[in-house]
Amino acid sequence: MGFVHSLSSSSMVVCVLLGFVLILGGKSSAQLSTDFYSKSCPKLFSTVKSVVEDAVSKERRMGASLVRLLFHDCFVNGCDGSILLEDTSSFRGEQTAGPNNNSVRGFNVINKIKAKVEQVCPGIVSCADIVAIAARDSTVILGGPNWNVKLGRRDSKTASFSAANSGVIPPPTSTLSNLINRFQAKGLSAKDMVALSGSHTIGQARCVIFRARIYNDTNIDSSFASTRQKNCPLPTGSGDNNLAPLDVQTPTAFDNDYYKNLLNQKGLLHSDQVLFNGGSTDSLVRKYSSNPKTFNSDFAAAMIKMGDIDPLTGSKGEIRKKCNKVN
Ligand code: HEM
Ligand SMILES: *[C@@H]1O[C@H](CO)[C@@H](O)[C@H](O)[C@H]1NC(C)=O
Ligand SMILES: *[C@@H]1O[C@H](CO)[C@@H](O)[C@H](O)[C@H]1NC(C)=O
Repeated sequence: MGFVHSLSSSSMVVCVLLGFVLILGGKSSAQLSTDFYSKSCPKLFSTVKSVVEDAVSKERRMGASLVRLLFHDCFVNGCDGSILLEDTSSFRGEQTAGPNNNSVRGFNVINKIKAKVEQVCPGIVSCADIVAIAARDSTVILGGPNWNVKLGRRDSKTASFSAANSGVIPPPTSTLSNLINRFQAKGLSAKDMVALSGSHTIGQARCVIFRARIYNDTNIDSSFASTRQKNCPLPTGSGDNNLAPLDVQTPTAFDNDYYKNLLNQKGLLHSDQVLFNGGSTDSLVRKYSSNPKTFNSDFAAAMIKMGDIDPLTGSKGEIRKKCNKVN
């Protein structure tokens, strides 16, 4: 009897623990789905795409900026549209935090998409979801892979300057282990991190971000370094905002040239070149450099995973009327 009793109570403990594991482990994305708005806003995808196409045809770089926006939104308190909020008297937002100030772009495009979406289905679609769709559309327009975007995120009622500044978004001076740790902290693997870094096949960076690398790093191609030094002078402070393409070969095409650059020590950021510098991610960089199909499918899978980070669902948060302001 005592044996039976202790057996059943210990299996009860196991069941309760298992229940907690299921609840905690399943919290991130269970509620997102690709058909979330299929009845409530059937024109959503075409509406978003038309605005993104228009913006990218005017400026190719905008596609890159919209891809990055998802990363910087999702890594700070989840994919909740918080990065879109301007400062208010009740909170200081994320837009002027270190990783974003004078750097993150695309807010006007998101606001424009939102205005169009409100015309076709008012009060239905979150800004957080619009960011996720715009990142996918931009990738496709620039020649990258397509994927089905999971939807159903709601918008935050606040944003956090301090959270955006806390190091959750790793800096470009990062070591490989810091990059791996920061992505791990968001449930993303080293493989996801290497694949997502492949989005540095598009877009631009400022001199102030890569100056230390092109003057001081030793794992850099010397002619590449001197080319970049021409438009990124010393001393620090002069030409800080001068831009250079993250991918020296095809800066506005979404392809796997980023990894080929790394093999040739032509990564623009210190945090790019650490992915191929004799460490644990070298083999993945080699694989993606020679196998664009594997890169494309791993990138798409990692973007879906990144879009699953801590969404607000159910009755949490709100559906903003305008993306730059809480209701
Ligand atoms: C692995 C860690 C990462 C670091 C350290 C990093 C760092 C940076 C930095 C410093 C810039 C240039 C900022 C400036 O000069 O103002 C940049 C640009 C960019 N990043 Fe990352 N990034 C990382 C991961 C990602 C991820 C995961 C994505 C998206 C999936 C992404 C997409 C982009 C894009 C597209 C640009 C160009 C944006 C534009 O031209 O407007 N990055 N990144
Ligand atoms: C953001 O950049 C501006 C320069 O454009 C600067 O004046 C301001 O101090 C920066 N904000 C923060 C918080 O660093
Ligand atoms: C290069 O490294 C030296 C020594 O650490 C430092 O004083 C200098 O500021 C660095 N140069 C740049 C451009 O970062």
